[in-house]
Order: sequence, then C-alpha cells, then structure tokens
Amino acid sequence: MLHRSPDRTPGIAQGGGRAWSPACQGTESRKHPVPRQRHAPKAQASCLVWVIIGLNSVTLRPQLKIMTKIRAAITGIQGYVPDYILTNAELEKMVDTNDEWITSRTGIKERHILKEPGKAASDMGRIMVDKLLKKTNTSPDEIELVICCCITGDMVFPDTANTICDKVGIKNAFGYDIHAACSGFLFGLTTGAKFIESGTYKKVIVIGMDVMSSIIDYTDRATCIIFGDGGGAVLLEPNTEGNGIIDSVLRGDGSGREYLHMKAGGSLRPPTAETVARKEHYVYQEGKAVFKAAINGMVDTIKKILERNELTLDQIDWLVPHQANIRIINGVADALNFDPAKVMINIQKYGNTTSGTLPLCLWEWEPQLKKGDNILLTAFGGGFTWGTTYLRWAY
Ligand SMILES: CC(C)(COP(=O)(O)OP(=O)(O)OC[C@H]1O[C@@H](n2cnc3c(N)ncnc32)[C@H](O)[C@@H]1OP(=O)(O)O)[C@@H](O)C(=O)NCCC(=O)NCCS
Repeated sequence: MLHRSPDRTPGIAQGGGRAWSPACQGTESRKHPVPRQRHAPKAQASCLVWVIIGLNSVTLRPQLKIMTKIRAAITGIQGYVPDYILTNAELEKMVDTNDEWITSRTGIKERHILKEPGKAASDMGRIMVDKLLKKTNTSPDEIELVICCCITGDMVFPDTANTICDKVGIKNAFGYDIHAACSGFLFGLTTGAKFIESGTYKKVIVIGMDVMSSIIDYTDRATCIIFGDGGGAVLLEPNTEGNGIIDSVLRGDGSGREYLHMKAGGSLRPPTAETVARKEHYVYQEGKAVFKAAINGMVDTIKKILERNELTLDQIDWLVPHQANIRIINGVADALNFDPAKVMINIQKYGNTTSGTLPLCLWEWEPQLKKGDNILLTAFGGGFTWGTTYLRWAY
C-alpha cells in the first residue's frame, strides 16, 4: 500500500489537490447541461470519491503517516567455506599446471574444498543458516521461506532447501532450489524479494552456495584450477526506509548451454557406467566463449540498471562481481571505467564458488558496508544466465 506525503510526492495519493481538480469542477451540470447528463452518474460518483478523499485528507491530515514502498532488505549475512584449502602448489602435483599460470590467467591462489566424507551442500547450508539465525536473533520458527541457489545440491531431488530446513529445525516454512549456476544468487534474491515486497512473508532466507568439487574432474587442468566450495546465506525482511533490493535486470540465453554444462546425470543422458567412464558427470567448459560472453553480459545489464534507475557510476559505492576470473572482473570494471577500489574481489582465496561468490563477498565486506550504500551485484554463468541487481544496504 502506498501512503505518501501529499507535500513530497506530487500526483500520488494527494487527496486534497485532486478533490478540487478542474475535472471535478467540470462535472457541474449548469455549465454543460445536455452532454454531461448522459455521463452524470459516473461523473457524480467519481466526483464524490474525490470529495471524500479531499475531506479525509483535510480531516485526517494530522494522523497521516508517511509510508514508502515495502522493499526486501538484507538484514543479516553469513558466509561459510569448508576448512580444507586446496592451494595452487597442491594442484601443481595433480595436473600439468603451475602457480604462475593460474595466478596470472585467473587470479586464484587457493580454494576451499568440502572433503569430509558424507558431507554435502545441505551441511554447508545448515552451518550458514544456523549462524545467520543466531546473528540476527531469529528463531527458526519465524522463517517462512528458504530459497537455496545451488547447482550441486545433495541429490537431484528433493530440493536441498528442504533438507536444510530439516537440519536447522525450520518447521513453518517451505523451500525450493534455484539452479541458475553463477547467477543463482541474483535470481534467488530477486524472487525472494518479491515475497516480501508483496507483503506475503516477513522473513525469507536466500542461500547461494555450491560444492563444485563434487562435479569437477581433478585431472582436467582447464577446470579444476578454477572452482571451489562455499557460499553464504542472507535474511530478507521488509524495509520501508527506502533501503533493500531496488531493481534487477536478469537475462538468460539457452543457446549458451553448448559452452558450459554437465553432459550426463539428467533426463537427456541418465547416468550409466558408460557416462561415468566418459567423465560426463563433470563440468564441461569452453573457457574462451564463456569469457567473452561474461564481460559483455555483465556490462550490458549494469548499464541497463543504471539507466533505468537514473544512476551514475559515481553514485555506486560497491560493485560486487561474480568471481570467475580476475581478468573478467577487471574487464567489466575497465569497460565501465569504474574505480577498482570499489570492486569487491576475493577470488584469490576462494576461486569460483558458482552460486556462492556474491554472498561470500558481501559477508567479507559486511563490516565496511554502511546503511544506504548503493551496491550493484552482477553475475554471469551457465545457461547462459546473467544479470545485475541494485540494492541499498540497510544496516
Ligand atoms: C578457463 C580460463 C581460465 C582459461 O584461460 P584462457 O586464457 O582462455 O586459456 P586457454 O583455454 O585459451 O588456454 C591457453 C593455453 O593455456 C593452457 N592451459 C589451460 N589451462 C591451463 C592450466 N591450468 N595450466 C597451464 N596451462 C593451461 C591451454 O592448454 C592453452 O595452451 P595452448 O596455447 O598450448 O593450447 C578462461 O577462459 C576463463 O576464465 N573463462 C571463463 C570462465 C568463466 O567465467 N566461467 C563462468 C562459469 S561460472
């Protein structure tokens, strides 16, 4: 519901002004007796409405509260990475690569790997969500929806969000997964926000994470050096101060699946001994094609969101890019001529955690963020999927 100050927002819910508008005055039958009579009931009704609004705004003005649109704000964030660190030095012993190549071509020095037997995405999710609830002083019973953005869920089904709810003890909610690869967190944040903006729910958790080590071939030097495990969870709550998720430009192009996919394990090629022997349950990537599309996609959606929200780049406090390759991140910042000091980069520590990179950045930078900071989150990944979300930090 929109309630705005009559003085500050011309044209919206200004009862006093509209009650005495020329349109209303023009319905007086004395001025145009014949033609007006044909529309008299409708005109009178509409005039009556404006008069009531006018009277209300006069009589009730002292009680009118200034309210703005309900937005979904991040009110807490919690990251998580597993303990085990896979360094470039260790990768040198596994495949034909070296620290110099990995560092100069990707910017990655190390990545975290979930090594504990029997542990999966839901175990990382449980730790994040447990800590997030404690940090925000929220009871599991208060959570109404959990969205888990992840392409490496525990099983093909059920959705990992449900398993996380079970492990955390979230009983009054429903959950589902979003499989949008590196753009997953943007898609989840945007859809989660809609449940808050509509007034349907007051507490929504969005998780972005992946256990990429579960679908990586550690004999393929082109992919095993890039990916890592980890991510983060955010709590979304209503905000009427103008902070929170403001806008998203999200895109997809299914023809891009040719360049980045996992061949087997789905209904197209159900897993068999042969698909496993052919290593079709691992990530397949044509790096160069993805590289170019990634820069173009992120730059394009950043420009669109700036234009749509009448923002200039100097009004942006932080750019949070998906952490796939330092050269892609620099390519995006260079194309926009954006101040590198305001770009969040932690790829050197975590590599590409797919749906996990954006919340991992926000979590690490949380102590530096200020209420009202203008933040752009941007990502590109498998699908292809990509997009940019504009939010104002709420605390
Ligand atoms: C994958 C990626 C790092 C490869 O970098 P690149 O500069 O494109 O490298 P290329 O694949 O062209 O390979 C260049 C050379 O390095 C070699 N090479 C590839 N991986 C190597 C490694 N780990 N160590 C050493 N050499 C390697 C290649 O074999 C090739 O050798 P050649 O010239 O003798 O044929 C890069 O393409 C990339 O980051 N792509 C986008 C990834 C991405 O955004 N994914 C999003 C999904 S989330």
